[in-house]
Amino acid sequence: MLKFDFNTYVKPLINENDYNNLLSRKEEILDKFNHSIMTGWTKEISSELVIDLKRTADYIKNNFDCLVVIGIGGSFLGSYAFDKMFRNYFNDSKFEIIYAGTTLSSKYLDELLEYLSNKNFCLNVISKSGSTMETNITYTVLKDLLKRKYNSELNKHIIVTTDKEKGPLREEVIAEGYKSFEIPNDIGGRYSFITPAHLLPLAINYDLDKIIKGYYRGKRLLDEAFEYAVTRNCLFKANKYVENFCVYEENMSYFTEWLKQLFGESEGKEGVGIYPTSTVHTRDLHSLGQFIQDGNKIIFETFIKVTKSDNYIEYNGRELHEINNLVLDSVMRAHFSGKVPCLEIELDELSIENITSLMYFFMLSAAFSGYLFGIEPFDQPGVEVYKQEVRESLK
Ligand code: PA5
Repeated sequence: MLKFDFNTYVKPLINENDYNNLLSRKEEILDKFNHSIMTGWTKEISSELVIDLKRTADYIKNNFDCLVVIGIGGSFLGSYAFDKMFRNYFNDSKFEIIYAGTTLSSKYLDELLEYLSNKNFCLNVISKSGSTMETNITYTVLKDLLKRKYNSELNKHIIVTTDKEKGPLREEVIAEGYKSFEIPNDIGGRYSFITPAHLLPLAINYDLDKIIKGYYRGKRLLDEAFEYAVTRNCLFKANKYVENFCVYEENMSYFTEWLKQLFGESEGKEGVGIYPTSTVHTRDLHSLGQFIQDGNKIIFETFIKVTKSDNYIEYNGRELHEINNLVLDSVMRAHFSGKVPCLEIELDELSIENITSLMYFFMLSAAFSGYLFGIEPFDQPGVEVYKQEVRESLK
């Protein structure tokens, strides 16, 4: 269950007229959203695809020591963030998945090659365009290792997730006959959680049915998602240009990276948008906490609270998790007193269904927010500029 409070530590700091004006645009915004051709992520996933994903996940588990997922941005963050949240900190017994392709570090790749030299591994290369540099370099280097190790059996070790028809990876699939999955045309990278780009790696260690059920349950949160978008936009009008996502579990730190990509790429264009950043508490209260409480008043915050924990640690007659949440409540009050608006999203527990519902909620909200800003939430022309520069430099 999810609860939202965009009121207590926010409303006294925003202009009511601005808020009501934005709220009154709901019909217009929903109309734009419903007419967008990039909302394939709201459509039901087919049962045939779910069967294929489960079967392929079993094939990977039963035949290899580990899976290497190669992808970046929207072709990586969703499943990585999810996986990090649900693994144990220590003594993790889940099937090993290595996420590569997010760096051009020679040290990283060299050590990865060394690590994989004694492993029987499978590659899942994920790229909608099929032409992303980091992904392609990592894929080429690891494929060479596979060729040296398995030569004629290469096909058994490679699974490609890419566009249905076009791009270099699709051409390779057609030429080589690799097992492949599709990222639909009407779904962009950061909205692709409900596609094989994320569901295949996740199907290996998690209950896919729960993931999917929770995700579509997020549809019920349309009103709250609009309210969140309105509140954020209203705060922007009040010169709050930075949103700090606060979590109280280290394992949620990549969930905030996913949020940063979602909001950063969806809203940050044509000179507008809220800059998304994040802190992990209580660690960062001892560093950035000073700036947030006392510094430049351009920040507002969204706190993600998890009410219950499965882990019981007692300290001075109190439950540690209760203390963690008590700190969260105190921090909201303190920051609010320093004129920092604080929004709160509460999960009754860190469950698969809650997290995937929340992901759907945030995706809806990012799209609504983009329309409220008057920009197109589903493209990312700014990212292309650097890619073009790199292509020119490499010529
Ligand atoms: O959200 C997006 O569209 C981007 O972050 C892409 O996912 C990222 O650039 C990777 O692109 P591709 O999947 O084409 O390799």
